[in-house]
Amino acid sequence: MQWATADESIKVQMFRFVDVLPMLSSHQDVVGHLNEYFEEVRDHLPAAARLGMNVSAKNTILSRAVAYQARSNVSRMAKRFIAGEDAKEIAPRVRKLWDKGFAFSLDQLGEAVVTDAEAEAYKTQYIDLLRGLAPEVAKWPEDWQLERGPNGPTPRLNVSLKLSALSAHFRPIDPDGTAKDVLPRLREVLRTAREVGAFVHFDIEDFDTKDLTYDLVRRVLSEEEFRDWPHTGIVLQAYLRESEADYERMLRFVEDRGTPIWVRLVKGAYWDYETVLAAQRGWPVPVFERKPESDIQFERLARRLMRDHELLHPALASHNLRSLSAGLAYAEAFEVPPENMELQMLYGMAEDQARVFTDMGHRVRIYTPFGQLVPGMAYLVRRLLENTSNDSFLQHAYDPDTKPEELLMPPTAVLETMPPMAEPKRPEFENEPLTDFADEAAREAMTEALADVRGRFGEDYPLVIDGKAVDGRSQLTSRNPSDKSEVIGTVASATAAQASEAVEAARRAYPQWAKLEEDQRAEYLEVLAAEMNSRRFELSAWIVLEVGKPIEEADADVAEAIDFCRYYAREARLLADGETVNVPGESNTTYYGPIGVAVVIAPWNFPLAILCGMTTAALAAGNTVVMKPAEQSSVVAAIFMQCCRDAGIPDGVLNFLPGVGEEIGPALVSHPETDIVVFTGSREVGLAINEAASAVEAQGGSVKRVVTEMGGKNAIIVDSDADLDEAVVGVIQSAFGYGGQKCSACSRVIVLKSVKDQFVERLKAAVASLKVGPADDPGTLCGPVVDEDSQKRLLAAIEEFDEEHEILAQLDVKALKKQGYFVPPTVFGDVEPDARIAQDELFGPVLAVLEARDFADAIRIANDTRFALTGGVYSRSPKNLKTARAEFRVGNLYLNRPCTGALVFRQPFGGFKMSGTGPKAGGPDYLKQFLVPTTVTENTMRRGFVPPEQDAAEAVTADAAGV
Ligand code: FDA
Repeated sequence: MQWATADESIKVQMFRFVDVLPMLSSHQDVVGHLNEYFEEVRDHLPAAARLGMNVSAKNTILSRAVAYQARSNVSRMAKRFIAGEDAKEIAPRVRKLWDKGFAFSLDQLGEAVVTDAEAEAYKTQYIDLLRGLAPEVAKWPEDWQLERGPNGPTPRLNVSLKLSALSAHFRPIDPDGTAKDVLPRLREVLRTAREVGAFVHFDIEDFDTKDLTYDLVRRVLSEEEFRDWPHTGIVLQAYLRESEADYERMLRFVEDRGTPIWVRLVKGAYWDYETVLAAQRGWPVPVFERKPESDIQFERLARRLMRDHELLHPALASHNLRSLSAGLAYAEAFEVPPENMELQMLYGMAEDQARVFTDMGHRVRIYTPFGQLVPGMAYLVRRLLENTSNDSFLQHAYDPDTKPEELLMPPTAVLETMPPMAEPKRPEFENEPLTDFADEAAREAMTEALADVRGRFGEDYPLVIDGKAVDGRSQLTSRNPSDKSEVIGTVASATAAQASEAVEAARRAYPQWAKLEEDQRAEYLEVLAAEMNSRRFELSAWIVLEVGKPIEEADADVAEAIDFCRYYAREARLLADGETVNVPGESNTTYYGPIGVAVVIAPWNFPLAILCGMTTAALAAGNTVVMKPAEQSSVVAAIFMQCCRDAGIPDGVLNFLPGVGEEIGPALVSHPETDIVVFTGSREVGLAINEAASAVEAQGGSVKRVVTEMGGKNAIIVDSDADLDEAVVGVIQSAFGYGGQKCSACSRVIVLKSVKDQFVERLKAAVASLKVGPADDPGTLCGPVVDEDSQKRLLAAIEEFDEEHEILAQLDVKALKKQGYFVPPTVFGDVEPDARIAQDELFGPVLAVLEARDFADAIRIANDTRFALTGGVYSRSPKNLKTARAEFRVGNLYLNRPCTGALVFRQPFGGFKMSGTGPKAGGPDYLKQFLVPTTVTENTMRRGFVPPEQDAAEAVTADAAGV
């Protein structure tokens, strides 16, 4: 711990090693990982540690000894903060605490609940704990200091509970669905607690889940059964900027309820996580960013608690003597009786201070976690982070160089000594943030948008050619895949002749559009981005209802469309000046100019983002466009067309040509005035377009360019040391998010033999817990497939593969099938790498599990397909991650995260082999596909004379050369 505090690089490697250790089964694995982790920071290590690192990972006595030592060190560290492995081990420990004059609160570790079975098990563990310990503690000697409460004794048996562990679907976007899942289990725990005379305290975790947790607590404690129960409490996190508002809500709630509760005031344990996550998401940072601000807020809230102590009984939880003393001073000022308040500290921390407060006559309660090391790792790492942070009170308290008066300085004074916060460095491009659906206002806006859009169902949408609305030969009827009885709208279906008209209109509009300055075209796209942003929820609602995409994913679709507009606008400006290479007497400039008419043929799975991305890239480059959306998403496309028109994109520059692909596709692709075809969709159609576009008779003034993005047979590798909690969640999200209908979706999971059984068991349970339902239900992760054809094709494929492979998991969706195009999420096991299910793209919620002997074998299997789009690896071996970077042949490789969800600019998206022609959407190479470069070379020398605008240095060089 000392080295870790002294050196950030060692700290990172050490915590990573601690994190992976419980997954390592052999001593060779332990030594191998030690070497891998610390190799990079070898020079920073003390000599003794370097000696240990020289041990090879072979089976030797020395490697056994090193592995043993590593394990016992980590286990010692864990035992410092985690009191025992199970309820049996814990009983004597808490008895010992009691005998030493401390109360306790027990916390069963096990935060990452992925399956319903695990949530059920968590509940049962609490019930068993309460029933098992209650008779034990009843036998203990009385201790009035520990038992006195506001109205008679406070229970000896006290547990702390994390509500997120009572559900595999703890989803802020879906408070009602989450309540249905959590509350029955919670009531059982509370009932048991009441029955055996115990106290239940609710922990608060990360900011995302905070409001939902408060909401659930308020709901349950307002119920008749629990309304008058005083032996309960909740956490308040002072590091949150909105903690004062949280306090107000708590106070109002208790006033309504009429029965007081306890409030455990903490600073908050997720500071690093919250700051990193907010930066990643582009959301406001919810926590204070300077340590004294959290301390000030703690003291301010401690004061309020002392004032309101009769309704909200204060439990000050901190190891910071200044924070606690300030709280105690307020307690004195407000004459808070000792039974109305207590102090709390964590097991294994600040034991001396705890003793001091006990001796002063306060009740000190020790928060005592217990459980296995794997589920306990998140807790352990939080404690290690806290104990090694430079901002930690305890860190300074044990530093002989820190003077007590510095340590105890009022945080307001400390804050004054600090320089103002530096403005955070802004990235070159800022992605449009996703909507935070933990925010009630956002949820309400979405509900309203869904209702509004439903109110507009059944309208007709015409073609738009040269700015004029035109009827088609017939109408395409678009249905809601979640409920096929709902007709979203009818869209005109173009004829081949209209396709030609559209191309010709685009050709006529081309010279004007091409002549505009890059900056002017970029402005149009920025106005379009703003237009879509102002219609954000409406656009999401159309997507949810027309293609069955769950709400959060639909929101991401809109955000990505906005990003594309802004990103290509930016890129067009960057390319505007071209590239210059000058040598003395010669200037060379390569300019980029538009190509001509672009035909955009878009898919339905990202009905807005991909359509918009391909179109705006073409427009930004100065081309004019005929936009042919997928039949299944023509209404979303029509609404997008409206946005483009509202943004002022001139007539003819963008033409809207919905229709049946087989009928108008050839006319568009083969038209001699078409210069570039931009396609995203299936391999078959992509290859056919490529061929048709290359036919000589199709060529007009130029050889057509084809930009395609086709399918994938994407694999995620799960290594033997992977964090299986994360791997299971990541695979489920990648394979079943939006019903597996993303080109990036995972359809093969390749698991190393040593962890396969363990992984498959959890995967099966996670699939069984998957929420399948209508896309507009906020709880849904996996919605319907897009249409009847897809449904039939997938059901037939599942039936066929069922004969060849074992079904490991399958959800029953019979009831849903009556209403919508649902397909049961299915996992096949027993799959060989060359089996059809491991090779053919299915585009649906079907996953194949394959086994690999070792990591090299896993990479070989992963690469063994015709595709190369996305891939994922869950591993904590730096060596294997390095191998994956070098050898996993895909366009987008994701390490230790799901393999879907690429962001514009940050993760340019696209693959090669049969997955596409390579250019990456949302990346710096993309726009150049829509441009032709022209290089202009000028001889600037006249009789040895170089014009003055030429660089002086060059002129000097020219002189020196005696030219
Ligand atoms: P100290 O005074 O050293 O404060 C450290 C804290 O300051 C950090 O944990 C962080 O909150 C904050 N901080 C650090 N750097 C900062 C910066 N740059 N800017 C702003 N703030 C910064 N936590 C939780 O979230 N939910 C819970 O349910 C509980 N439960 C709980 C029970 C008990 C009994 C205790 C003692 C603690 C908790 N905690 C908790 C943990 C608590 O939130 C906190 O992490 C630790 O107690 C450390 O804070 P101290 O006041 O002890 O130390």
